[in-house]
Amino acid sequence: MSEKKILLLGSGFVAAPSVEYLVRRPENKVTIASRRLANAQALAQKYPGTVAVTCDINDEKAIEDLVAQHDLVISLIPYIYHALVIKAAIKHKKNVVTTSYVSPAMMEYDQAAKDAGITVMNEIGLDPGIDHLYAVRTIEEVHQKEGKMMEFISFCGGLPAPEDSNNPFGYKFSWSARGVLLALNNTAKYLENGKVVEVSGTALMDSARKLPTGYPGFAFVGYGNRDSTPYDKRYHIPEATTIIRGTLRYDGFCQFAKALFKLGFLSEQPLAHLAADASDIAWNQVVAQASGASSTNADDLRAAIIAKCDLANDPNQTAILDGMRWIGFFTDNKVHRGGNLLDTLCATLEEKMQYEEGERDMIFLQHRFEIEWKDGSKETRTSTLVEFADPNGFQAMAKTVGVPCGIATQLILDGKLTKTGVIAPMSSDINDPIIELLEKEGIGMIEKVL
Ligand SMILES: *[C@@H]1O[C@H](CO)[C@@H](O)[C@H](O)[C@H]1NC(C)=O
Ligand SMILES: *[C@@H]1O[C@H](CO)[C@@H](O)[C@H](O)[C@H]1NC(C)=O
Repeated sequence: MSEKKILLLGSGFVAAPSVEYLVRRPENKVTIASRRLANAQALAQKYPGTVAVTCDINDEKAIEDLVAQHDLVISLIPYIYHALVIKAAIKHKKNVVTTSYVSPAMMEYDQAAKDAGITVMNEIGLDPGIDHLYAVRTIEEVHQKEGKMMEFISFCGGLPAPEDSNNPFGYKFSWSARGVLLALNNTAKYLENGKVVEVSGTALMDSARKLPTGYPGFAFVGYGNRDSTPYDKRYHIPEATTIIRGTLRYDGFCQFAKALFKLGFLSEQPLAHLAADASDIAWNQVVAQASGASSTNADDLRAAIIAKCDLANDPNQTAILDGMRWIGFFTDNKVHRGGNLLDTLCATLEEKMQYEEGERDMIFLQHRFEIEWKDGSKETRTSTLVEFADPNGFQAMAKTVGVPCGIATQLILDGKLTKTGVIAPMSSDINDPIIELLEKEGIGMIEKVL
């Protein structure tokens, strides 16, 4: 086999499982490019057939030079940079793989990618990724049998395994806290019983509900994830009256997050007392200002928080206040001033909510299909993936994002995924070979008729 040169942009935790998959084939040579050379080197040291280079993603020329020297680019850098990578790939007729949603800026290159004869394969991680593979498979099967997909509900969560969910959020950060917290203020839009529902601000956390997953051992709640309404077209299910894609958390997370939100801890507004050059300030002083408490005395702080967050008759009041105590809100510990409330909170949460050595994450992904057959009969199916971190191996999130990405890359290199343009896994011709290889890795959703 002739040598295949792969450029991997990014050395985050998803990169390793992709690299591990690809270097099983000796003809694959992977260049790992990262802003910080040490990060790329740390990864390259673990795998044969890899080299580390440094690369500034804002340097268009440098990116283009790297792209030109390889056969395929995997872009695992933040999605805003993908368009730049695609542009360079089109110029030099190289294929591209990303795990990100196709953004409008990326879609603008669709025709140019087709004209250049290249494949720009996206949305091939977990969510988006594995979720699409198994949604599309069941939808195509139902349509082939002339059934209708009346409801499609899908929830996904990357969480600590239950035994490692030992904090008031039941959550730990695999990457920055900032992105996770800011996402709590996203607007969710979905189709429910024929009506478009839009939820934003603190209402998103209020909308979280317990889900009938069929796994009572997991105390999950779910809320909408961004805009689910384009999925009638993306999944070819115009007949559906309910289409919801959502995010899972352990119960307790949403009430707690909402209270922090109400205190202003999602705000990026600069505050003088949190500026880098301000003097040291303690958590109880920050919380007194945020809540409007008359002093930094713990009882005063609690009373002000209860008033501001409307917790007087809330059944979760104790749990929420205990959570705030756990963060350190009532102490005179100094905060890491982050310029605003959001970044100040993030600095403390990142310290307290990391995965420690030996702690496992898990992912839970479940689709729920309500099918109406030709004869009028109805059927409910679920399709579920429960994946835990491998002891001494990859975290579940890294594996379920990185492996599908590695598989799609290999299929392109082998000439088995040849569709051109800016694409996503939305049809069985693309998806079936990916599913087959994924299941060989022991990863797959299990379907059940209820
Ligand atoms: C919050 O209150 C509701 C209603 O009483 C209860 O079902 C739920 O378990 C509580 N959650 C926590 C984390 O205490
Ligand atoms: C939440 O999002 C809205 C837009 O939907 C924005 O106006 C508001 O400033 C955001 N709030 C925070 C705390 O970030």
